[in-house]
Amino acid sequence: MADEVRIAAVAGALRAASLNRKLLGLAVRELEKAGAVVEVIDLKALALPIYDQDIEDAAFPEPAARLKQSLLRAQGLLIATPEYNGSIPGGLKNAIDWASRPKGPPGAPFRDKLVLVMGATPGPAGTRYAQAHLRQSMVNLGAWALPGFVAIPHADGAFDERGELRDDAVRAHLAKVVALFVQAVRHGVPKI
Ligand code: FNR
Repeated sequence: MADEVRIAAVAGALRAASLNRKLLGLAVRELEKAGAVVEVIDLKALALPIYDQDIEDAAFPEPAARLKQSLLRAQGLLIATPEYNGSIPGGLKNAIDWASRPKGPPGAPFRDKLVLVMGATPGPAGTRYAQAHLRQSMVNLGAWALPGFVAIPHADGAFDERGELRDDAVRAHLAKVVALFVQAVRHGVPKI
């Protein structure tokens, strides 16, 4: 379809019970409601090696190539990430580092891409440093990072037993932000 909007969605945490995987799942549902075609990238399943230029020079790893392809296919990127020590979790940063390399599938997978960053944490600060650092990294790669709209502090109590957000206002906010994101991706960004 000519007006199809493809979004790649990735959680910055690997563990199965991750709060950010839960948040990502809810955001994906909203993306689909807004008409987007979503590809979820699972960093645990990808099992990327730690970035090492010796590995890259020997042969671009197949999981890194798959990651790059998935990102290149998408017009927008949604990331739900925890914060580790006031910054981006290493696994997520490692994935960005691999995908940013010119080797492997040709193309710059972050350039001219709208990126929506969100995060959940049991802590009080709502992943604000991780989000800020991630936006900086994305912008450095030529992406357009939206401002910090979705940050869920005290998230260990934020989801009910079905994995739904308990707070109606937070749920409505997430739906609104995701719908606006899809609208913005559909509209497109100016090419610099
Ligand atoms: C954390 N955590 C954490 N939380 C936070 O709000 N700010 C921080 O700087 C950190 N730092 C940090 C470092 C490391 C190494 C770990 C493992 C954890 C706590 C973190 O938010 C919590 O474990 C989340 O539940 C992790 O996200 P997922 O796995 O639930 O998505």
